[in-house]
Amino acid sequence: MSELFSPITVRGVTFPNRVVVSPLCMYSAVEGMAQPWHFAHLSTFARGKAGLVFAEATAVEAIGRITPNCLGIWSDAHADVLKPITAFIEDMGCVPGIQLAHAGRKASTSAPFLGGKPLEANDPQSWPTVGPSAIQTAANFPVPHALSIDEIHTLTDTFVAAAKRSVDAGFKVIELHGAHGYLLHSFLSPISNQRDDEYGGSIEGRMRLSLEIASAVRKAVGDDMPLFFRISAVDGMEGGWTMDDSVMLSKALGEHGIDVVDCSSGGVSGAPRFRTDDDGKPLTTSSARTPGFQVPYATRIKNETDLKSMAVGVIIDPQQAEEIASSGQADFIALGREIMHNPFWPLHAARALGADQEFDLWPKQYKWAVDRRSQIAPLSKPA
Ligand SMILES: Cc1cc2nc3c(=O)[nH]c(=O)nc-3n(C[C@H](O)[C@H](O)[C@H](O)COP(=O)(O)O)c2cc1C
Repeated sequence: MSELFSPITVRGVTFPNRVVVSPLCMYSAVEGMAQPWHFAHLSTFARGKAGLVFAEATAVEAIGRITPNCLGIWSDAHADVLKPITAFIEDMGCVPGIQLAHAGRKASTSAPFLGGKPLEANDPQSWPTVGPSAIQTAANFPVPHALSIDEIHTLTDTFVAAAKRSVDAGFKVIELHGAHGYLLHSFLSPISNQRDDEYGGSIEGRMRLSLEIASAVRKAVGDDMPLFFRISAVDGMEGGWTMDDSVMLSKALGEHGIDVVDCSSGGVSGAPRFRTDDDGKPLTTSSARTPGFQVPYATRIKNETDLKSMAVGVIIDPQQAEEIASSGQADFIALGREIMHNPFWPLHAARALGADQEFDLWPKQYKWAVDRRSQIAPLSKPA
């Protein structure tokens, strides 16, 4: 019996298995609009039968894009072009999810495959960035405009409008992006938030924006929709956000309508001074990126709150994924780079774990033919 491939229900949605396609920016939208690439990319994972397929960080407003080619959902037309994608994912028996995001002071950069640097101010594609305080992400980033209280309040409405459009587009799960140094994370972390009003200062002040948005989105989408929140569990920087802060935030998020905490880490600064483990000990680059290195964050959230948690980060091996699920270290297992490398990872993992018969995962269009593969004559070797 595989736990990884067992269904799981959160509120009104039953996921066929616990494998999740982590949000993966494709930097391939035009004016925020999904293109044929997005259909091809996301539908492949549905054919691969991941239980939950997340669309990439999708900007709630144009200045919230990371790059000029990031996906957006700031108009009804943006939602409309996403409909065939969500319909196909559902047709495959999988659950379509969307990550709603605002890049904040890390916006207006070029795609990684174009250099991944902040756009020059005189670049016609660039735009001024915003953040909690006028503090750069790193020396080569522009100084963001520090949002006023009125502008902060407007942001909540902007997230709510995007959430309503996401429901209209057919998404069954929404994740709020509160990680990687983007806007919500930049409010949480004392490194980037040095405000002295009600949206800064104490941890309660720094959490306020995330909690207000979570509450407002919950109210807008109703009780049936699962809401995920991605955190950077630790900043990995001296004086930064810690795992204890993440536990406190997660408990509060639970009281504001969030069901699942997706545990990533880092990103608050473009130039981290050093990375640390949970106890503040410096990590070497190699120890920081070993398989499942972020799982302990998800386990702590699961153990110390009433919420479910999602693990992500260098999870490649099916046995390891199964172990994380079956030993209760996390409820959902998200894959990024490995599932891009092998979009049919769930099908192959299920076969490796002996679970594919039990759960009959393969799409019927492929199954009958793939099952007869053994009848194909082997390549004859030259004598
Ligand atoms: C190409 C690429 C795009 C990504 N885009 C996003 C994104 O849109 N939102 C997000 O929260 N994380 C994003 N990430 C991080 C992944 O979701 C994931 O957390 C990270 O890659 C670690 O998982 P992995 O080791 O399985 O790749 C991205 C990562 C990659 C490689």
